[in-house]
Amino acid sequence: MKPTPLIVEPGPALFGAFTPPGDKSITHRAWLLALLAEGDTHVSGANPGADCEGTLHAVQALGVSVTGTPDARTLTGLGGRVREPEAVLDCGNSGTMLRLLAGVLAAQPFLSVLTGDDSLRRRPVARVIEPLRAMGATLFARDGDRLPPLVIRGARLAAVRHSLPVASAQVASSVLLAGLGADGETSVEIPGPARDHTERMLRAAGVAVVETALAAGGRRVSVRGHALPRGLRLSVPGDFSAAAFFLAAAAATPGSRITANGVGLNPTRTGLLDVLERMGAKVERSELRIEAGEELGNVTVEGPARLASFDVPVEWIPRLIDEVPAWTVVASAAAGVSRLAGAAELRVKESDRLSTLARNLAALGVHVRELRDGLEIEGGRIAGGAARAEGDHRIAMAFAVLGTRAASAVRIDDAASIATSYPGFVSTLVALGGRAGSA
Ligand code: S3P
Repeated sequence: MKPTPLIVEPGPALFGAFTPPGDKSITHRAWLLALLAEGDTHVSGANPGADCEGTLHAVQALGVSVTGTPDARTLTGLGGRVREPEAVLDCGNSGTMLRLLAGVLAAQPFLSVLTGDDSLRRRPVARVIEPLRAMGATLFARDGDRLPPLVIRGARLAAVRHSLPVASAQVASSVLLAGLGADGETSVEIPGPARDHTERMLRAAGVAVVETALAAGGRRVSVRGHALPRGLRLSVPGDFSAAAFFLAAAAATPGSRITANGVGLNPTRTGLLDVLERMGAKVERSELRIEAGEELGNVTVEGPARLASFDVPVEWIPRLIDEVPAWTVVASAAAGVSRLAGAAELRVKESDRLSTLARNLAALGVHVRELRDGLEIEGGRIAGGAARAEGDHRIAMAFAVLGTRAASAVRIDDAASIATSYPGFVSTLVALGGRAGSA
């Protein structure tokens, strides 16, 4: 496909309010629970990006009927009676879709094949194969069961007690979704503060979810098999991970003030706000509320005259794992050296984010050191220049907002990947005062 370059010129401080797209993690889960639910699921404000649309297409291929408009959809669930797909299910760029869907399909008595784009076919699947096999499903993957495509012959599953080596919400959710179709009680031990949207949505859908704290930190989550979720009425909160780029841009530019309206504030996701505060930015939350078990509200960030450097504590990493590209914007603008470690998982995201970020920051004149599991950035002058997005939406968005406060223009080679999560990103950037356009 022809690349879509994006050029961002330095401009005035960003200013104004915007509503981010619906949360991507929550939207994937809404479509999958609608597939398993008895009755209709009504979803408004779903994420419109290609990743979540992929999950919506997959649940249609599995038998769900969808009516309504993109902003207010009704899905008629099958109460667990899922139809064997006639073709390979394409998960595009989305690791969340592939791993969560694998859990759902492991409990279905038929064959499914999941694949994705060049990036997804380089991302690990052994982490879901292992527990789903232990439950009784048959799974195979390429390269010695390491990489997609993933072939699943589902079965009547037996419950397991699975302990995760890393606190991955995708893997935990995959096992819990499989557990809904298993005999007995399935438990997952999560060794840290991973996002808990699956647990919250299952509860909202009437499924009993038991959580206990683990002595060593983290928690055990259990569900009983053959529990049918009820159809939900869900208004998806704005995606904090999408809003983060503009909030970071505001913090990085003195005189900026930006409000994200209706943004999800689940505490497992908002670690970046704590970092911005520690660096000296003003962060205000207002109109706080809870809908279908999820916190949301409005968040305003103001850029201070001088942003201080800050080392992100390792235990905060899971609460900002998707915000590390946005963090590099503030770290590059701060006075002094900021560090982040304990984030080796970033090497298996849509790109190897530690190396993609380090390479691009260096290309823009930022002093950066790539660590085995993190980054060290000496803030100060951002010269501008050319960045390569490597097909990774969050890399493209991070360098676009970095362009607003660089000394000269930033040219991103291909920004097409932004459409996987935030199709309206460039128009929001322009509405907030950014000078962005195609080359
Ligand atoms: C997600 C979990 C996280 C996150 C990803 C979305 C989810 O991945 O990085 O963007 O929706 O469950 P891991 O579970 O691999 O940490």
